[in-house]
Amino acid sequence: MRKPFVAGNWKMHGSKASIESLVKGLNEQANQVQNVDIAVCPPAIYIDFVQANLSADNIAVGAQNVAEEPVQGAFTGETSVEMAKDLNCAYIILGHSERRAIYGETDAQIAEKTKVVLEAGLTPILCVGETLDERESGVMEKVIADQLDAVIKVVGIDAFEKIVIAYEPVWAIGTGKTASPEQAQEVHAFIRDKLARLNRSIAEKVIIQYGGSVKPDNAAELFAQADIDGGLIGGASLNADDFMAICKAAS
Ligand code: G3P
Repeated sequence: MRKPFVAGNWKMHGSKASIESLVKGLNEQANQVQNVDIAVCPPAIYIDFVQANLSADNIAVGAQNVAEEPVQGAFTGETSVEMAKDLNCAYIILGHSERRAIYGETDAQIAEKTKVVLEAGLTPILCVGETLDERESGVMEKVIADQLDAVIKVVGIDAFEKIVIAYEPVWAIGTGKTASPEQAQEVHAFIRDKLARLNRSIAEKVIIQYGGSVKPDNAAELFAQADIDGGLIGGASLNADDFMAICKAAS
């Protein structure tokens, strides 16, 4: 019932030369993937370059973050959602654990950003997830519930019809440690159940991606879980063959 969605988060990687060759690889292979929504999220400065080189019409483009201020203004170094929209972005990653941990983004700020992205008509990919300490000390569910509640408080549960959630256990990001399919499924089911208590039909429809060391050789097993609807891919999205193999595993 839910169409799988695989997105590549390129983080702060790439150059014009490496991106040109990555996009060429994506263009060549994209028609091999059916029935999966696909997106790539380059560094903001390269979005226009990616759009200019991307000919695969089944791959959308997104941004990795936007400012809380929706339009423009004196905010040196920031990118607004209207600018991302102007460059034909369809998705905006929000609340990635690197934004939370390195740049101090709070649940409240992420909720505000979710609101401006929805108001601009773009789709937020809202990242949630626990650290290893939080998992081991038994507060994992509370941490994830708080991250979701902050957003629900600002945009309301009905808005989740237009939000993609990405569950990314922080301890699995870029570490080579993947959550086991069972561990991931348990948290995805927790998220869906939590939303279902507020609105069952929205909970059934919401796409929940898994992110954290997804590779071609573990993707199929993760995506086979009942509540895992695709993935948010970091390192492996920088290689066209690997990313396309992961997209195929979702179909
Ligand atoms: O947003 C994707 C992510 O944080 C996972 O990164 O490199 O572990 O696939 P990676």
